[in-house]
Amino acid sequence: MATPEIIEAFQRAGQGHVFAFHDELDAAARERLLADAAEIDLAEIARLHKTLVAGNASFAASLDGLTPAPYEPLPEHGGDPAAWAAAKTAGETALRAGRVAAFVVAGGQGTRLGYDGPKGTYPVTPLRKKTLFQVFAEKIRAAGLRYGKPIHWFIMTSHANHAATEKFFRDNNHFGLSPARVHLFRQGRMPAVDLQGKILLETKSTIAMSPDGHGGSLRALQRSGALDIMQREGIDTLSYFQVDNPLIRIIDPAFIGWHHLRHSEMSSKMIPKAYAGEKIGHFCMQNNRLIVIEYSDLPVAMQRETDPAGKLRYIAGSIAIHILDTNFIRRMAAGGPGVELPFHRADKKIPAIDAAGNPVKPVKPNGVKFEMFVFDAVPHAKNSVIIETLRANDFSPVKNAEGLDSPKTCREDQLRQFARWLNASDAAIETDPTGLPKPVIEVSPLFGYDEDSFTESWTRLPAKPTITDGLYLE
Ligand code: UD1
Repeated sequence: MATPEIIEAFQRAGQGHVFAFHDELDAAARERLLADAAEIDLAEIARLHKTLVAGNASFAASLDGLTPAPYEPLPEHGGDPAAWAAAKTAGETALRAGRVAAFVVAGGQGTRLGYDGPKGTYPVTPLRKKTLFQVFAEKIRAAGLRYGKPIHWFIMTSHANHAATEKFFRDNNHFGLSPARVHLFRQGRMPAVDLQGKILLETKSTIAMSPDGHGGSLRALQRSGALDIMQREGIDTLSYFQVDNPLIRIIDPAFIGWHHLRHSEMSSKMIPKAYAGEKIGHFCMQNNRLIVIEYSDLPVAMQRETDPAGKLRYIAGSIAIHILDTNFIRRMAAGGPGVELPFHRADKKIPAIDAAGNPVKPVKPNGVKFEMFVFDAVPHAKNSVIIETLRANDFSPVKNAEGLDSPKTCREDQLRQFARWLNASDAAIETDPTGLPKPVIEVSPLFGYDEDSFTESWTRLPAKPTITDGLYLE
C-alpha cells in the first residue's frame, strides 16, 4: 500500500491517531512508522478488540466436560517395552534418513530472569559456563554425527533480539555447525492496544509492537521460507523446544518414532506434575480432542483433584516439547476458519505516548498485548500422541533469577544428570541423597547428550579418567 492508502486504512479502522504526528516527522521517522503500520492486520485487531478487549473474554477456555488426557507411560511406569523399543527404532531410521530438524523458539523477552540480551546467550553449564545456544548446538551436532546425517537447526528470534542472536552465532563460528544448516528467522509482531482498542504509540514514530507469542512460530516458519527449505532438504519432522531448557533431549529417537508410528501430526512430551500448583500447562481431553490448559486457566480446585489412589488427576504436565509434521505446520499457517490459533490477551504496563505526544510510564496495566500459544495447535492435529518422559532427562528450565527454575536449580540438575550417566556406566561417583555429585564435573554434549550416547563414548575411552572436581569430558 502507498502512504496515503495506509493512512486512510488506519483512519477508516478508527486508528487514525497512529499518524497524529506524521507531519512533524522527518523522512526516516515516517518510513519507520509506515513500516510498523504495514505489519498490522487492521481487521484482525478490530476482531480481537471486539472479542478479547471489549468482550472482556480472557480466552479462559471452557472447562465443560474436561477430563485428564491419556498418555503413553514409560516402560518403568507400566508402558509396553516392545512399543517403546519399536518407536526408538523407527525414530533412528528417520534420523538416518535425514527427515528430522531441530527448532527452537527464542523470541521471548526473558524479563523474569532479568538478563539483558537474547536468552540463548545466557551461560548455564557448571564448569565451562557454556551458553544455552552452545549446549543446543553441540547436542544437534553430536546427534547428526551419530546418525550420519547432519541436522538442520531452525531458530526463531524476535525483532528485538534477531541482530544480536545472528552476531552471537557468527562470533562463535556457529559452534561448529555448518552455517548453511543454521537458519535464523524472525517471528511476527502484534501491536498493543489500550483498553478502548486504540493502537498504542511507543513514540511519535513507532508503534508499541511486541512478539506474537510462540504460537506465531507456525506462521513465521511459513512466511520466512523455512518450510520451503525443509521441503527441499527432505525434512518432514520438526523437533520443537524452548530456549530456556538445556536438559532437553532435542533429538530423541523414541519420541520421533512414536510420532511417526502413530501418524501423528503433532506430538508432545508430558511429565507427571511435581505438585498440584506447578506452573506448567495441563494436557486434557474435551469433546474427544486433546487440549492444553495453561496453569493460570485451570481452577486451583481442579489442579488439586486426586484419584481414589491419591494421585493428582490432572497429572500430565506440558513441558513445551513437541514434534511437528511440516505439512501440518503448513496447514495451520495457512489458517482459515476453524484452523487458526486463537489469540490470548495479556494486560500489561506498556510504555506509550499520550495524545499530546508526552511519554507515559504506566503504574498499572494500560493496555493489552495479544499472543498465540503453540500448544493451541494440538487439538487441530490428527492422531496426536503424548508420551511420558522423566523430568530428570528432559526438563530443567532457567526462568527466574532465583528460587525455582533458576540458574542454580538448572546447574544442579545438569550435575545430577552427568552423575547418573556416569553411574550407569559403572564409573561410580559419589552423590548426596538427591543425586547431586560431590565433585563439580561437566560432560560436553559432544561426548554424550543422553545416556546411550554417553555410554558409547565412555565404553570407547581407552583409559577412564579419575572423577574429581573440574573433570570435563569431551
Ligand atoms: C511455558 C508454557 C507452559 C509450559 C512451560 C514449560 C506458555 C504460555 N506456557 O511457560 O505451558 O509448561 O513453558 O517451561 O507458553 N517465546 C517466543 N516468542 C514469544 C514468546 C515466547 O519465542 O513471543 C519463547 C521463549 O523464548 C521461550 C518460550 O517461548 O523459549 C516460552 O516462553 P515463556 O513466556 O517463558 O513461557 P512460560 O510462561 O515459562
